[in-house]
Amino acid sequence: MTAAKGLFLSFEGIDGCGKSTAIKGVAEKFSASGRNVVLTHEPTDGTIGKKIYDILLGRRRMIRPLELQKLYVEDRKEHIEKLIATSLAQNAIVMTDRFWHSTLAYGMIDEPLEILRKLHNEILGDDFVKPDITFILDLPPEKAFARMERTRNNLDFFEKIEKQKKIRENFIALVNAGVGTIEVIDALETPQEVVRSIWKQISASYLCSLALQNFCGLSANKIWLRA
Ligand SMILES: Nc1ncnc2c1ncn2[C@@H]1O[C@H](COP(=O)(O)OP(=O)(O)O)[C@@H](O)[C@H]1O
Ligand SMILES: [Mg+2]
Repeated sequence: MTAAKGLFLSFEGIDGCGKSTAIKGVAEKFSASGRNVVLTHEPTDGTIGKKIYDILLGRRRMIRPLELQKLYVEDRKEHIEKLIATSLAQNAIVMTDRFWHSTLAYGMIDEPLEILRKLHNEILGDDFVKPDITFILDLPPEKAFARMERTRNNLDFFEKIEKQKKIRENFIALVNAGVGTIEVIDALETPQEVVRSIWKQISASYLCSLALQNFCGLSANKIWLRA
């Protein structure tokens, strides 16, 4: 029998759209099926990732937008080498909370997509590992902020809303530009419904790859199909 193969999934969307909640729900489904699940996130907890957090949290001096993007991509290179590639080689289900689409969607506030993709290619080249599926959890920023119970009646709130609106638009621009294999998920739904939609897409994608590869070890992989 053929062993169940690894799968690489990324979860994207604005702050508070429900990424962590959805990842937890999908991970539970895979774990219940006996799969080895590796949960990870970007920026990572590595040296470069920590530098990024320090900058974002004001513990270090802010740098130019493109320099910041460069750090994200360098962090990703380390992330792929140290965790993602090795876990996939061991047939794990790897789920990352943010990956390259976040870098692009946030980076596009200051730089054109093409410049950002060029930077990505220069640093990662053939070492890049593309997610099998990227889930963009789409939600109006007002809803995300309400969920996060932020104070709404100050200037800071409106500034942040405007920025998040732009980022949400950038995520959709990436879908329209065909950057990667993306499924847009309606994150206005309940957490259960969000997980159900994601699971449906994972199952459909699995069935599709089965058909394409004329796969024989169906029974070993049936776990994918449990709803
Ligand atoms: N589908 C949903 N419907 C309603 N509330 C949600 C949903 N998904 C997440 N939440 C709540 O919204 C808040 C932000 O969710 P979270 O998963 O932390 O978002 P993210 O990781 O994208 O920042 C949390 O309080 C969470 O419980
Ligand atoms: Mg989160």
